[in-house]
Amino acid sequence: MVFVIILLACCVVVVLLIMKTKNRHYWKKRGIVQVNSNAWHFMLGKCSLSEIYKHIYDSHPTQDCVGTFVGYKPVLILKNLEDIQVVLQSDFQSFYGRGYKTNPKDTLANNLLLIDDYARWRLLRQKISPVFTATKLKNMFSILERCASDFAEFIKLNPHAKENVFEALHTYTSASISASVFGINAESSNTMTNPILDFGWSSTESVNVFNIKFAMTNIFPKLFNFLNLKTFGEHNDFVVGILKKVLNNRRCSKEKRYDFIDTCLDLLNQEIMHDPLTGFELKVTDEVLAAQAFSFFMAGVDTSANVINFALLELSNNPVILNRLHNEIDTIFENCSEKITYKDIQKMEYLEMVINESMRKYPPIGLMQRMCMKDTVLPSRNIKIEKNTFVVIPIYGIQRDEKYFPKPEEFDPERFSTENVSKIVKLSYIPFGEGNRICIGTRFAHLQIKTALAWLLRRYTIKGYNYTSKCFEPNFFGLRDSKARYDLIARA
Ligand code: HEM
Ligand SMILES: *[C@@H]1O[C@H](CO)[C@@H](O)[C@H](O)[C@H]1NC(C)=O
Ligand SMILES: *[C@@H]1O[C@H](CO)[C@@H](O)[C@H](O)[C@H]1NC(C)=O
Ligand SMILES: *[C@@H]1O[C@H](CO)[C@@H](O)[C@H](O)[C@H]1NC(C)=O
Ligand SMILES: *[C@@H]1O[C@H](CO)[C@@H](O)[C@H](O)[C@H]1NC(C)=O
Repeated sequence: MVFVIILLACCVVVVLLIMKTKNRHYWKKRGIVQVNSNAWHFMLGKCSLSEIYKHIYDSHPTQDCVGTFVGYKPVLILKNLEDIQVVLQSDFQSFYGRGYKTNPKDTLANNLLLIDDYARWRLLRQKISPVFTATKLKNMFSILERCASDFAEFIKLNPHAKENVFEALHTYTSASISASVFGINAESSNTMTNPILDFGWSSTESVNVFNIKFAMTNIFPKLFNFLNLKTFGEHNDFVVGILKKVLNNRRCSKEKRYDFIDTCLDLLNQEIMHDPLTGFELKVTDEVLAAQAFSFFMAGVDTSANVINFALLELSNNPVILNRLHNEIDTIFENCSEKITYKDIQKMEYLEMVINESMRKYPPIGLMQRMCMKDTVLPSRNIKIEKNTFVVIPIYGIQRDEKYFPKPEEFDPERFSTENVSKIVKLSYIPFGEGNRICIGTRFAHLQIKTALAWLLRRYTIKGYNYTSKCFEPNFFGLRDSKARYDLIARA
């Protein structure tokens, strides 16, 4: 076994070197500034890929784009917001794919987040996005709110949670998605106990495994399929099984909740989904729906937990901001006798400014990747992009560019005050992406994060340890710092 692994590793290195030599001048030949891969730092686990791209971004202040490589594959890092607009929006036809190869036999990978087949993606996106309309969110609010207050209680009852806030945040975000979107345990006395939680959307392990797999599918798609590796294969039975159970329970109870499960039942009744524009048809099965449910967890658990974590971290080191936020939250809680409604949450404007500023300084998704699906041209310098080239939108680099956000390292929620927010340059603030593949959970995530912070700060205050992050965890897209320390202290 060891021998096979060593042999495989050698082959990989040889292939990399050969391909790299072949592509050595790929960007130079096209008149584009080229930086030879520093992805090794990432591979060696020293920092996140977003930080490497930010470093390249910052080192080329006058360029519109910089060419580099991931493994041997040419990647173009975009800096010009006009080009970014074209990639995300106006030339979507050339850039609809993300280029993460998945094994066709892996049912769960056939999800919104990962599919690159245009017609299939379009159909599923149309059918699934109604789950997150404003009306549906209002319906979900009471459950979401209960999750948040249960969470504050959970921290009180579990000394372990106070020591491991990040892990506890994962518990909260997955519990609140499963209760509000799937109706799992929504009735129970404590939403923080829940079968999906045992599954381990664990804060470290699964993320790292996903990470390695994503890196591999990116660099060696053929090898990945040849070895018949499945990105999520081992989770398949569990996730499909849970969804089937929930669907059946709902069928029997005939209760209407207008959540994801109700949407699923409607779709299953239609049997075939159809997109009149493309003519594409898809048979609705439990498996297809389970894959979409799975994408909510993949996309929504770690991201939201990170936003709350970084917000708490910044608050712990900014007593003036923390104090003002406590005041806003206390006033609203007292006025409604501790029973906050959807409207009350909307009134927490300063809280929203704090959250948006956290996502500016620490975008939980620090980069977006697109694969060029047909030859095209980017407008800023008429750059030709060939089919199958990767382009990267370095969110983290952009959102810390002083051109758009003066003193970018400073945590300043005033950037999002009513006077200031309209001055933010379009597309310089894109924590949820932009265009046709913008996050479908944006509003849900905002509500989930706001409610959690409101309840937490009603019950606790935070003491910090003068945090300065040197680098984030080695991660393909994400910015994470699960070891960041701050103390939650119960309020009188
Ligand atoms: C703060 C929390 C979140 C952040 C920062 C975030 C960020 C993003 C970003 C940047 C993208 C686009 C990536 C790209 O264009 O390549 C995305 C896509 C997506 N997000 Fe989120 N997300 C969050 C929470 C959620 C939640 C809670 C859900 C679901 C419940 C969700 C579901 C999705 C899905 C399904 C997609 C793929 C959409 C498509 O390709 O059509 N996200 N998210
Ligand atoms: C206090 O509550 C009342 C209704 O209960 C509402 O009309 C008023 O706007 C609230 N004030 C604040 C500051 O939330
Ligand atoms: C935001 O507006 C305030 C005035 O309301 C101003 O003092 C401050 O400098 C502005 N901050 C930013 C980051 O634009
Ligand atoms: C915060 O960001 C969200 C979406 O990212 C936006 O809808 C909202 O208007 C922003 N709020 C403020 C106060 O900037
Ligand atoms: C935090 O660290 C910075 C830089 O290391 C230092 O200047 C500052 O005095 C420290 N603040 C506290 C409260 O320890």
